[in-house]
Amino acid sequence: MSDGTSTTTPQAGKGASGEPQGKMEKIVSLAKRRGLVFQSSEIYGGLSSCWDYGPVGVELKRNVKDAWWREMVWSRGDVLGLDCSILMHPRVWEASGHVAGFSDPLVDCKKCKTRFRADHLGQLSCPEKPDRRPGECGGELTEARQFNLMFKTFMGPVEDAANVVFMRPETAQGMFVNFANVLDTQRRKLPFGIAQTGKSFRNEITPGNFLFRTREFEQMEMEFFVKPGEDERWYEFWKKERYDWYVRLGIKPENLRLREHEKDELAHYARGCADVEYKFPFGWSELEGIANRGDFDLRQHAEWSGKDLSYFDEDSRERYVPYVIEPAAGADRATLAFLVDAYDEDEVEGETRVVLRFHPRLAPVKAAVFPLLRKGGHPEKAQEILAKLRPHFPVQYDQAGSIGRRYRRQDEIGTPFGITVDHQTIEDGTVTLRDRDKTSQERIHESDLVAELLRRVLG
Ligand code: GAP
Repeated sequence: MSDGTSTTTPQAGKGASGEPQGKMEKIVSLAKRRGLVFQSSEIYGGLSSCWDYGPVGVELKRNVKDAWWREMVWSRGDVLGLDCSILMHPRVWEASGHVAGFSDPLVDCKKCKTRFRADHLGQLSCPEKPDRRPGECGGELTEARQFNLMFKTFMGPVEDAANVVFMRPETAQGMFVNFANVLDTQRRKLPFGIAQTGKSFRNEITPGNFLFRTREFEQMEMEFFVKPGEDERWYEFWKKERYDWYVRLGIKPENLRLREHEKDELAHYARGCADVEYKFPFGWSELEGIANRGDFDLRQHAEWSGKDLSYFDEDSRERYVPYVIEPAAGADRATLAFLVDAYDEDEVEGETRVVLRFHPRLAPVKAAVFPLLRKGGHPEKAQEILAKLRPHFPVQYDQAGSIGRRYRRQDEIGTPFGITVDHQTIEDGTVTLRDRDKTSQERIHESDLVAELLRRVLG
């Protein structure tokens, strides 16, 4: 794989030393084999750190984003949605501090010319001598210098400095610059939030670990505007809410932790920040950050735009600039965590089976329909049942091979329910309903299937 740059890119499923990490390697290979995730532009040799979601993966990631939206917007009365453009006025990124400060320290190896993140040297390996760290391989490293992570492009046909625009490195600024629009048009009182999901871009120096750190990724962010003085309470509230969301969707609590940032990790304006971290096969790593950003963002944009972004509180008759609590998650990172956590191997009928134990709400395919035989009216009945289920959720049909093989194929993509049509179905209209995790079966009348599956999937 080559991305045409000289930066080091740890490969998916490999650690810093290039050693295979059993579980990650298996997951990357399953993801490719079963149509969850493919290398971007694979037929051209791939583009490093860019990934394409296949027919199964796209459903998984959609379900993650939908679960987030349902939780953060639909089920609350105080959060509203937004969908901003990726390209924004360049002054937005000056006001936000990204032009001056959104950078990582970078060093070059004078011998092999590879670039490394200076603060990640302890986890990286020399591309020529993978058992050595950069700088410990005989090559001398340059002094660290700052490298801005924003991708630049030009707006319009003239490629000069006046036409430079940035690919947004976060979705958050779209919410800040629309604060007054949302407030005015939706007649809102504090506290309220604005949420959006969408692509962000960062020219990461060391992307890697599959979907974990990429240069193009999707974020799920919410800015919750509160009265100063009430920020601490809401900060605590959102930390707990966001941690609980992952657990409710099936992440094992022993693989999840909330880590409060040390004082020296905080941005100068932040009044508090905590990460929800997941125990990936490559170590505990950030899934989501929850920050108390004070009034920094609205004040900066008010100053740079010259527009008043304060709020008049009719209850207390005061005017103030709201504080912001921001839960900021990554859709791809969350998808990876749900995938890793769901991956399991167990013994069924004397064979090792690979199973993705997704929460039914996240499972890419909710049910598969199998005719037991290719005759006796089984395929026709199975197709009839499939047609009834299709309008409600993704379903698959499989009549190839033994029923055990067909179950295994569905277990590998995490389908929670298997429906088998057999001779009894033709006689009395009942089918067998197999549960992926328990591998047990029960009989249920076909006319009850839609309601029962909807209850178990959305329940
Ligand atoms: N507005 C605040 C903000 O963007 P962040 O911690 O830089 O905060 C939020 O990003 C989340 O976005 C991260 O917790 C992570 O899940 C995701 N994210 C950030 N950079 C990423 C990358 N290069 N690849 C994949 N996901 C990334």
